[in-house]
Amino acid sequence: MSRYGEFPGTRPRRLRTTPAMRRLVAETRLSPAELILPMFVREGLTEPAAISSMPGVLQHTRDSLRKAVTEAAAAGVGGVMLFGVPEVKDAVGSQGTDPDGIMQLAIRDVVSEVGDALVVMSDLCLDEFTDHGHCGVLDDQGRVDNDATLERYAEMAQVQADAGVHVVGPSGMMDGQVGVVRDALDEIGAQDVAILAYTVKYASAFYGPFREAVNSSLTGDRKTYQQDPANFHESMRELALDLSEGADIVMVKPALPYLDVLCKVADAVDVPVAAYQISGEYAMVEAAAANGWIDRDRAILETLTSIRRAGANMILTYWATEVAGRL
Ligand code: PBG
Repeated sequence: MSRYGEFPGTRPRRLRTTPAMRRLVAETRLSPAELILPMFVREGLTEPAAISSMPGVLQHTRDSLRKAVTEAAAAGVGGVMLFGVPEVKDAVGSQGTDPDGIMQLAIRDVVSEVGDALVVMSDLCLDEFTDHGHCGVLDDQGRVDNDATLERYAEMAQVQADAGVHVVGPSGMMDGQVGVVRDALDEIGAQDVAILAYTVKYASAFYGPFREAVNSSLTGDRKTYQQDPANFHESMRELALDLSEGADIVMVKPALPYLDVLCKVADAVDVPVAAYQISGEYAMVEAAAANGWIDRDRAILETLTSIRRAGANMILTYWATEVAGRL
């Protein structure tokens, strides 16, 4: 006891004294099985290509993708999320529904390579495939046409399911997308293909590096379909809708700037909750670390631990294989 009276009466520091003690009382643990690796595969590449704003992340060839998923599976990663980058883009994103499009080929490759060892997921969105870079098709005034886009998503869901994917991730924030995708899957007998819904997806500046990763030509923004960072209650509405439409897993994205939202979503539901640690979150840590301003390895684990602590059951992270190897 100090000479200033009764304090400290209790001593929380007792449980922080040694590494073994801290490990024993840790409330949150990370394990490889809950990490999902997002991966880019680009049509027409002969060598994997670097993404300058995401040092360490590659646009893969079909061959290098196979190698990288094998490494991810060997490290115990729980799943991969595939993004296809076609050689030719057009107004309706035709390559997204071509059975021989790069996404469908990549799904087949990955499922045959590691389909028993981890969960294979595919982004279900048009922005990688459209020449204007929007997540849907445009009407005659250049606005993203919700219901015409749903028709395209239904077709995409069916070709991705035909290719053998285990989980589709509708990420375009169109109203009704989860319900339409569920019906489209069921219509072709793909009842077992699950939906990871991008339920709460904000119009974020932190998607910047992703645009480079998918060679996006987007001008303008996605504010008419993605959510305003100022809003929370709107997220709860999106959540109720996606659950009623059949979402199997719900996701909050980005992760770190929205841990409050993630926490409330996780408290509100009894389905698994995912969080996406996005390209800009990755780039910030890598850039600061490259300058010697932060300890890279500690920072990575700290961000992932925080996202888990906030309530995510699984995390999409570009560090998945590396971190799984370290755990
Ligand atoms: C849409 C999609 C995006 C990301 C994942 N799916 C881009 C966007 O909404 O603008 C971003 C992921 C990241 O930034 O790491 N297909």
